Amino acid sequence: SKVLIEEFLNGIELSVFVLTDGKDYVLLPEAKDYKRIGDGDTGPNTGGMGAVSPVVFADQAFMAKIEDQVVRPTIEGLKREKIDYKGFIFVGIMNVGGNPFVIEYNARMGDPETQAVMPRIKSDFVELLSASASGELGGKTLEVHDDYAVTVALVSGGYPGEYETGKVIHGLQQQTESIIFHAGSSTHNNEVLTHGGRVLAVSGKGHTLEQARAHAYKTVSGISWDGLYYRKDIGQDLLNYKG
Ligand code: GLY
Repeated sequence: SKVLIEEFLNGIELSVFVLTDGKDYVLLPEAKDYKRIGDGDTGPNTGGMGAVSPVVFADQAFMAKIEDQVVRPTIEGLKREKIDYKGFIFVGIMNVGGNPFVIEYNARMGDPETQAVMPRIKSDFVELLSASASGELGGKTLEVHDDYAVTVALVSGGYPGEYETGKVIHGLQQQTESIIFHAGSSTHNNEVLTHGGRVLAVSGKGHTLEQARAHAYKTVSGISWDGLYYRKDIGQDLLNYKG
């Protein structure tokens, strides 16, 4: 038998998204995911209980390191190995004392990071997707809103363990500027019901992180179902982040 010894990385995680046509790439806004079920990052891991974009510690210098040390070598590696990859690359990064370490690669966007990243994109995103598919991403740039986005995942009680479904969701008709994304819901007799673990994701925007949090949580507070659970602290750790 073998023993695998891995380096322990003590830092803070960041999700970085790249859209590539196999030759060139565009960097999308970064996001921070909140994976644990409980406030203060406690309890079991989930698919993601919320996300924030932009991420305060992902300043220009840190993102430049990610591009130089991770993104460009990744694209070069794909080319060298003759992997004709077009689409998203999601790199999970650990920021260890200002230096990026790769935790994982995924050939997709992230959930719920996407729900925080997409509301910040100002450019015609379909045009960029089309350019990625047709190999014409070279020279394309991405315009991004300066606003913050905070996404809160609304889950069935018991998730990520056992949970019940079929609960009637109330509050979806409220007037709100937040975006309510459906993931694990269904309809029956003109009612919207829970139909999964992670049921909805609510994204609020604002000029500051505080505002975006306030907008998201105001909308969340108007939604209810029997057993609804969500984290109350999405983005809170970044409000006074000192590094
Ligand atoms: N939120 C993490 C993932 O999509 O893998």
